[in-house]
Amino acid sequence: MDSIYREIEELKKEKDAVILAHYYVPGEVQACADYIGDSFYLSKIATKLEASTLVFAGVTFMGESAKILNPEKTVLMPDTTADCPMAHMAAAGKIEKMREEYEDLAVVCYINSSAALKTYADVCVTSSNAVEIVRKLPNKNIFFIPDENLGSYVAKQVPEKNVILNDGYCYVHKEVNKEQVEEIKRCHPGVEFLVHPECTKEVLELADYVGSTSGIIDHATKSDKKEFIIGTENGVLYELQQKNPDKKFYTLPGGQTCTSMKKITLEKVRDCLKYNKGEVSVDDSLRRKANVPLNRMLETAK
Ligand code: 13P
Ligand code: SF4
Repeated sequence: MDSIYREIEELKKEKDAVILAHYYVPGEVQACADYIGDSFYLSKIATKLEASTLVFAGVTFMGESAKILNPEKTVLMPDTTADCPMAHMAAAGKIEKMREEYEDLAVVCYINSSAALKTYADVCVTSSNAVEIVRKLPNKNIFFIPDENLGSYVAKQVPEKNVILNDGYCYVHKEVNKEQVEEIKRCHPGVEFLVHPECTKEVLELADYVGSTSGIIDHATKSDKKEFIIGTENGVLYELQQKNPDKKFYTLPGGQTCTSMKKITLEKVRDCLKYNKGEVSVDDSLRRKANVPLNRMLETAK
């Protein structure tokens, strides 16, 4: 195992590369990363790096966003088939229809979306800044794509807006159900339930804290409490345990797993660097259009 980490370190130097990893990729991959975080942190940090090559250990929309924001850099993905199904769950026709219906409409697009979908958006958001950005928009009518659950969470936090929901979803978070949460809460009375806003409204109602992956990790790390129930993809357990070796984390039955994130292995990280495999390319006119809402997000959010 150690030798593959050494090999990756040498390749990084040789290729002037850094590795960015999302909290959902396997722990051993997070261990070789230079930057680990939630979607907002990763897109922000990607614009501040000097290295000429970025290896993105995550799913397609993440590598694509890094390339859109940094066209001059080489962006490599260890597995280009690691796609997020939700990234495609909105229809152009529906967006156009909404624009016709509401004169002042803002199309707010979760970053978990394809570059093509982003071209229809006024602004992108992540789970850590969606509420803040929607609140700051001058528009009253918001069409939130593609995630219905994050959209519904935002609608509740920003009641002064008319947030119109789309029907996209993350299958990993949608499968968490109210009964499972109630059962695990019964087994661990008084233990806080920390949850991602991609879960359903019924599940969020049972939460003690709702936030992005970084938000969940920070909340548990800063808390004096010693036990937590975690309602998000199980990759976060790696960082939770690294930062809190004395605390206990319980997962829901089924242990939420994103199969695309788990496609990223150390061997694939090494091979993309070694053989320059998995280079992300985005058509120039698509890139220019998708860059607008992404940049607006970076400018608007703290
Ligand atoms: P965050 O890390 O931004 O909370 O995103 C979760 C997610 O589903 C990424 O695919
Ligand atoms: Fe997509 Fe859900 Fe996987 Fe995130 S956890 S990449 S939203 S399928």
